[in-house]
Amino acid sequence: MKKITIQHIKNLKSLKTSFPTITAYDYMSAKIVDEAEIPLILVGDSASMMIYGYDTTIPISMEEILLLTKAVSRGSKRSLIVADMPFLSYQPSIEETIKNAGKLMKEGGAAAVKLEGGVRIKQNVYALVEHGIPVLGHVGLTPQSYHQMSGYKVQGKNNQEAKQIIDDACALEEAGAFGIVLECIPEALAEKITNTLTIPTIGIGSGKKCDGQIQVFHDILGYSSDKPPGHAMQYDSLYSSVLKSVKKYKSDIES
Ligand code: KIV
Repeated sequence: MKKITIQHIKNLKSLKTSFPTITAYDYMSAKIVDEAEIPLILVGDSASMMIYGYDTTIPISMEEILLLTKAVSRGSKRSLIVADMPFLSYQPSIEETIKNAGKLMKEGGAAAVKLEGGVRIKQNVYALVEHGIPVLGHVGLTPQSYHQMSGYKVQGKNNQEAKQIIDDACALEEAGAFGIVLECIPEALAEKITNTLTIPTIGIGSGKKCDGQIQVFHDILGYSSDKPPGHAMQYDSLYSSVLKSVKKYKSDIES
């Protein structure tokens, strides 16, 4: 089976229809996503909550995301695997950025990495691309800045914020990113950025006008006890059906 390439993802921008992408954090979910022919899997730092049970994406470590990336790589034969760079694995210096991104590629088997931020991480992105490490950008609501943003809120609602997000997206394209996640920004702003850039935009909570969309695996399956975010597209209720099965097993054994 042929592996999806970065060029393939870039070409999806010219499709008339939107393309789907999704997170996965382990061998079996990666196998399922691969079999469903989803072109891109993100080993997202949302694993911080979905797998490790932390409150935000801030605590997850390089070691924790590396382990999940290895498992996803073993499960996926076709999809392009992008690994999220955890909080403070790239912000401190360009050397740290390259060392940690290199680990996710060399040891984890990822084909690319994702970093949050725009203008302020332009040099990091440029250096990664120069070293042969493809980068997916991420602007708008950047969950690693949870405290700085005073919570999860739609970003870019006023002109000043909107201009900053456009500048961030353009900086990432200039630095060589092959695509950009637009999280929780108004649809009109997402459309403007999508029409301005030559690389694909991948939206989450940013309306329908992006080139592609991304959803969190556990959200689309209803596989969490927490209330999913408003933009989650839910197709199943796994949490309650798994709970029912485990309870049935318990009562079968007990009786
Ligand atoms: O970690 C994650 O799941 C993400 C997506 C929401 C884009 O960054």
